[in-house]
Amino acid sequence: MKQITLIKGDGIGPEISDAVVRIIDASGLKIDWDIQAAGTDVIEAEGTPLPDRVLESIKRNKIALKAPVTTPVGKGFRSVNVQIRKNLDLYANLRPCRNLPNVKTKFNNVDIIVVRENTEDLYAGIERMINSDTAESIKIITRNASERICKFAFDYALKNNRKEVCVVTKANIMKLSDGLFLDCYRNIAQDYPQINKREILVDNLCMQLVQNPSQFDVLVLPNLYGDIVSDLCAGLIGGLGVAQGANIGTDYAVFEPVHGSAPDIKDQNKANPTALLLSSIEMLRYTGENFFAEKIETALFKTLSEGKFTTDLGGLLSTTEFTDAVIQNLIK
Ligand code: NAI
Repeated sequence: MKQITLIKGDGIGPEISDAVVRIIDASGLKIDWDIQAAGTDVIEAEGTPLPDRVLESIKRNKIALKAPVTTPVGKGFRSVNVQIRKNLDLYANLRPCRNLPNVKTKFNNVDIIVVRENTEDLYAGIERMINSDTAESIKIITRNASERICKFAFDYALKNNRKEVCVVTKANIMKLSDGLFLDCYRNIAQDYPQINKREILVDNLCMQLVQNPSQFDVLVLPNLYGDIVSDLCAGLIGGLGVAQGANIGTDYAVFEPVHGSAPDIKDQNKANPTALLLSSIEMLRYTGENFFAEKIETALFKTLSEGKFTTDLGGLLSTTEFTDAVIQNLIK
């Protein structure tokens, strides 16, 4: 039986994790969940929101499904999410953004894969005050990180029958840093003659995305543009309740929704488990469980097609009622 680390997180994390575990179980796939508590709830007992045992579990199992974790406010605690990404060198943030059946949005036919570099750029956190009126942040772009993220994007495109990989930069202004990223894309692209190439500036991309998003296929971006553009794309397909994600490295992969722990609806049986469920479907595909991935996806899409929604999408169902409806469609 496959062992997978499960981080149930806090806030709405445990509710949506339980929903997803029930659905996967009902599909007939047996998973040995290695459940690891993390986040605000473990700080008191263990002195940190991310005890070593959590990272050790992911290293052992190679794969994790992760629900959101609140970032504690106050000194001394770094974001659990950032720590996991750094510790495991999860250099690729993958965000598939596709229209879902019956979920009303401004555009149809959106099917964009956002591949965001996860380790450097302005997120390296190298900042200083030059004097009391001037601050400086340093943008780091390296050939190594840029080439590996571009290679990841092209490999993903090849494996998933995508036609184009478009690189997004502001290389007309940041000629050295974004210029290097673009140069790496061009070098890597030569190894993939079967995939279309496209280059676009990030400002133009944003304008095109809100006018005609269906023209885009796979996007590859440095960290900061990737962060902003992936949220824009999440908005195109129905928002946080349905936006899935994954952080992937050479050795380990952590699948998680884009949204946070939603403390405002915690313990109210209101949370939409779809984003975590879609993340788990992507995880199953990643581990080669394509049969079960298809089966669960079909049941989810059928449920949505029947107009069964949680309240965030304008429906009437609670988390458990929605989960039951997906399970009904699985076993029909
Ligand atoms: P949030 O994503 O938790 O919530 C924003 C809004 O969307 C809220 O109104 C919430 O009710 C709603 N929402 C989010 N997910 C939903 C779902 N599945 N179903 C229905 N409604 C949903 O963002 P917020 O409030 O800024 O962050 C709360 C906490 O989560 C913070 O501590 C933040 O640091 C953490 N966070 C953790 C992430 C992670 O673990 N990967 C990612 C983003 C935020």
